[in-house]
Formats: sequence, C-alpha cells, structure tokens
Amino acid sequence: MRAQSIIILREMFPRWSGIVGAIGNSGQGNSTVLARFANLDGSARWSFLTTRDPDILHRLMRAVAGMGIFHQDENGAFALTRLGTTLRSDADPSMRSFVLYHHEFVYPSMGEIISSSKSATPGFVKVFGMPFYQFAKENDEAAELFNDFINQNTRFVVPALVSAYDFSNCDRVVDVGGGTGALLSSILAEHETIFGTLFDLPSAIQAAKSGAGGPLPRCELVSGDFFSDKIPHGDTLILKSILHNWKDEKALKILENCRRAVEPDARLLLVERLVGPPNELSDAHYLDLNMMIMNMAQERTEEEYSHLLSSAGFRYSRTFSTESPYHILEYAAQ
Ligand SMILES: C[S@@+](CC[C@H](N)C(=O)[O-])C[C@H]1O[C@@H](n2cnc3c(N)ncnc32)[C@H](O)[C@@H]1O
Repeated sequence: MRAQSIIILREMFPRWSGIVGAIGNSGQGNSTVLARFANLDGSARWSFLTTRDPDILHRLMRAVAGMGIFHQDENGAFALTRLGTTLRSDADPSMRSFVLYHHEFVYPSMGEIISSSKSATPGFVKVFGMPFYQFAKENDEAAELFNDFINQNTRFVVPALVSAYDFSNCDRVVDVGGGTGALLSSILAEHETIFGTLFDLPSAIQAAKSGAGGPLPRCELVSGDFFSDKIPHGDTLILKSILHNWKDEKALKILENCRRAVEPDARLLLVERLVGPPNELSDAHYLDLNMMIMNMAQERTEEEYSHLLSSAGFRYSRTFSTESPYHILEYAAQ
C-alpha cells in the first residue's frame, strides 16, 4: 500500500523533480490541479496536473508525507525530503527502479502467494505466464528496469563489499551473472593489477557497455548463459545474488559449470544474504518469500550454501561479514 501510493504520485508527477507545493483548483473545473514545484535550490515553477479530484491527490500526499517522503509545512505545502530525493532518477544511487520493479512485478506476483504455495508454481508465472528471466528476455523494457534496479541496488553495497575482502592477490576476477558490472568496476578501480571478465545475459552486457555500472578498464564483457555456455576462465569467480535466484538443482548446474571454468585452488566468492536464526525480523526472511514467488527459489543458511558448493567441488574456507546485509563466503576449487 505504501509503495502503491508512491507509485500513484509518480504517475502524476512523472518528472518527480523537486518540492511539491500548494495544491488548488486551477479554475478549469475540478479535473485539473495547479501545483507548485520548488526545486531544492529554492527556485520554483508551476505545473498542471490532471486528476479528477484534488482531494485524492492531497490525501495521497498526506499519506506519503507520513512515510517521510514529503514534509508538509504549517501552510499545507509539501516539500520533498532527503529520503524522497532518493526516488529521483538522478539520485546516485537511486531507489526509483527498485520501487518501480516491485510495483510492476513483485507485488502482482505476491498477490498469488497462497495459490502459488499450494501449486508450487511461482506467483510470477501465474501472473505473467512464464518465468521471470524468460519474460525479461522477451521484453526489453522489463529487462531494462530489472538491470537498472539491480545496478542501483548493488551500488549501495559495493563500498561495504570491497572494503570487507582483500582482492589484492587476485589476477583475473570473473563476475558470473555480474549484471552491469557495478561490483567489478569498483574492484578494478581499487586494484590496477587485476583483470576482469563480466559474464551475463546480453541485455545486462549491453547496459554494462553503455557504462551503467561504472567504468570497466582491463575488462572483457562476455554475453552468455551460465547454464549452457562455457564460463570464462579466471583465478577468482564471484557469484553475487545469483544462487538465491534458483532452486538447488539449477544452482548446482551453475556451480558445476563454474567448477569446469577454474583450476584447483581457484577461489569462488559467494556474496549472498544469509538466513539467520529463527524468531528474528530479518530481511533474508522477506527476501526468501520474494524469491519463492518470483522463481520458487530461496535464501539459504551458510550451511545450506556450503553443502551445495561442496557437491559441486568447492571447499569452504571462511566467511566475511560486511557493513551491509551481505556476507562473502570464500571457497576453493578442489
Ligand atoms: C539478481 S541479479 C545479480 C546481478 C549482480 N551479480 C549483482 O549482484 O549486482 C542476477 C543476474 O543473473 C543474470 N542471469 C540470469 N540468468 C542468467 C543466465 N542464464 N546466464 C547468465 N546470467 C544470468 C541476470 O541477468 C542478472 O544480472
């Protein structure tokens, strides 16, 4: 409901460009509302918004103000808060595509959670008729939104990941399903001796080529499928937020393919959230349901990951916690 009200407002304010001010009738009947947008530098402009009922707009904005997205002052004017500015497309990183992706794909699928849990068919498949990654392959806009959502999301945590792990003795880092390369970009920027390979589906590689995830010097960009294509060779493989997208059987296929790409003793770094102890309010528990309705996939405990990795020929070395919800689990190829 909260995200839905933000979405409705975004539809009304497509530019989402600053501070939304006084709302009142334009005098052109009750279908058009005049709103004052003041930018954060204090400059103001007027804009017309079309709505059948200004009262509805006011009630939506009041609710969103209660979430800290707007602040309503004593004159009734609404200002975009610091939190609200993270929804702007030019925020760096931006939460805009996170909200849009959830609105477009996750919430409709979540509505099917009961029937989905009875039939073991992902809610996403019930609503959209096919698995998510297939849908994204056939729908450029969906792929673009998803790639941007992942890119922005990853950029929030990259500083925590690169400071938690010492990459200095890696030679070639292959980010398998590395999206638009946000993590790899940061590793390559910090370590000038490291070469990189970004491996992902064509739409993500295309976004990476346009620079979405940041500069990728000394880096090969390879389009491919981690189930059926050969994974590029390296001494360090990264799998960030990959295995949680898949059930054990498919996750094992990816890992076996990774194992074929490396020599014994090569490193595999698994970057995932970990399911923790019971009776805790945890992001991982929510994300686990999200994975269930999107793909019948799952979040896992450290032990569950290590069991999977060991079945594919990787030996557990150690776990690094980070200043983010993610852990880095280090494995060596046997
Ligand atoms: C949740 S995203 C994680 C992206 C990146 N590792 C990150 O954390 O920013 C999953 C990634 O897996 C990629 N992917 C999905 N199916 C794939 C396949 N069959 N072969 C290669 N990449 C795939 C997606 O395109 C996406 O970039």
